[in-house]
Amino acid sequence: MPLRIDIITALPELLHSFINYSIVKKAQEKKIVEINVLNLRDFSPLKHRKIDDYPYGGKGGMVFRIEPVYNAITYLKSQRNYDEIIYTTPDGVLYNQKMAIELSLKQNLIILCGHYKGVDFRIREHLITREISIGDYVLTGGELPAAVIADSIVRLLPGATGDETSILNDSFQDNLLSPPVYTRPAEFMGWKVPDILLSGNQKEIEEWKLQQAIERTKKLRPNLLNTSDYEKE
Ligand code: ADE
Repeated sequence: MPLRIDIITALPELLHSFINYSIVKKAQEKKIVEINVLNLRDFSPLKHRKIDDYPYGGKGGMVFRIEPVYNAITYLKSQRNYDEIIYTTPDGVLYNQKMAIELSLKQNLIILCGHYKGVDFRIREHLITREISIGDYVLTGGELPAAVIADSIVRLLPGATGDETSILNDSFQDNLLSPPVYTRPAEFMGWKVPDILLSGNQKEIEEWKLQQAIERTKKLRPNLLNTSDYEKE
């Protein structure tokens, strides 16, 4: 059974280019993943398919009402069991590769895309199982975060990229950044590819790559070497 990701959004068009993009599209054609986009408005019981409203107790932007979100999630849950119902929000847990790996091992996921002033908090209290932020900055909505999360999951699924060994060497996969990579020509404007990579000695090349990965991680992201920090959730 392919991993299934249902994305609930008020702006389905924003996700169309993502689900039709090459690796993600091919993974769907190969039945490795099934990504389904649901328009929140289709689940509104109100006139004009209204989905948001003014917040109680003050000013501020519009907030998603409960009913359309509840209806969309209930509809999906009536079809199958879900492992996680994810909400994208800047105050969620900071996303990382460890979570991507964890999610890639699930069967059915829902991602509810947040809205710029948020959703009625009861949705978060009663329906959501996991809240994820993709970084400490604020976006206008949760569609890009949903695409980021889905993309990071899809590329981990066996057969999705056609190059599993490259995934095992990913940055972050072992809490290390990737080593530098080079391709032809071996020299350009006097800028040379490190000799070791041209030596043909695979064992030494692997050692060099690991050394580079460790050095780059120490220099650029020393916190990754402190696994207790990295794994904090
Ligand atoms: N919605 C708005 N900003 C976001 C962020 N940084 N992560 C996840 N969802 C968001």
